[in-house]
Amino acid sequence: MERVRAIVEEAAAKPGPVVWLTGAGISAESGIPTFRGEEGYWKVGSRNYHPQELATFAAFQEMPAEVWAWYLFRRGVCRGAAPNAAHDALASLEESLGDRFLLVTQNVDGLHLRAGNTLGRTYQIHGNIDFMRPVRGGAPIPIPEGIDLDWPRGRQLRAEELALLAHEGEPTRPHVLWFDECYDEATFRFESSLRAAAETPLLVVVGTAGATNLPMQIGMLAARQGTPSIVIDPEKNPFAEIVERTGLGVYLAGTAGEWVPRVADLVAERF
Ligand code: APR
Repeated sequence: MERVRAIVEEAAAKPGPVVWLTGAGISAESGIPTFRGEEGYWKVGSRNYHPQELATFAAFQEMPAEVWAWYLFRRGVCRGAAPNAAHDALASLEESLGDRFLLVTQNVDGLHLRAGNTLGRTYQIHGNIDFMRPVRGGAPIPIPEGIDLDWPRGRQLRAEELALLAHEGEPTRPHVLWFDECYDEATFRFESSLRAAAETPLLVVVGTAGATNLPMQIGMLAARQGTPSIVIDPEKNPFAEIVERTGLGVYLAGTAGEWVPRVADLVAERF
């Protein structure tokens, strides 16, 4: 903890917001399966499709109702979960730091916002499962009432539900980023996230396997600037390897619930 304290203290003397980068691991203790863990979404296949095959625009074009059903099931899982101590700690931290705090999350579960983090300081770089957007482009719209919040795995959409999911006569899609799609600024805050990584005095990375593009760019960009990272994850991930290779920062092997509240307290004290 002494090392963490020293890193936080040094960073706090510099300008710019502390950037927290979170992944599925921060919601694991809320009971939401991660993607690549043993019981993860990308590991447990369905009878007909491997779930990862459904997370593409190509799959959506071919079978929109099936893909919608899969997302509505996952939405129910997220809605049934509650923010945990790590989410709560980040919400309190934003409240005390204001503009010296920024959250970049890969999670679509909405738990950071439900804990109290604000949309202005939360970049949801993979979207939010409670929203849909027109297939042809446009702003996210809340999924309408009348769509079952307790969607069983495998239940398919009825015609009236598919009609509910249209917006002004236009078909919509889940408000997420799929494997065959690119980040952008308007919907996913791509440039803003990179700018934040370049300008932050401290990056804290929580519960992500580092398998996606923008998060790894953030980690590498920060390291190139000589910025330290504090990496929290029970498994050694590519962010922990960056720390090891560069000597910038520290890897804390453990869960989000164990470490996030402690690190957030230190940051609140010093920043
Ligand atoms: N606390 C902290 N970290 C944890 C915990 C926990 N309690 N439990 C698991 N982890 C860690 C795992 O060790 C792993 O490194 O969380 C990470 C989860 O990794 P993934 O399942 O790959 O999730 P994530 O990195 O968020 O996935 C990134 O990939 O499929 C896409 O769009 C999807 O946003 C997702 C992205």
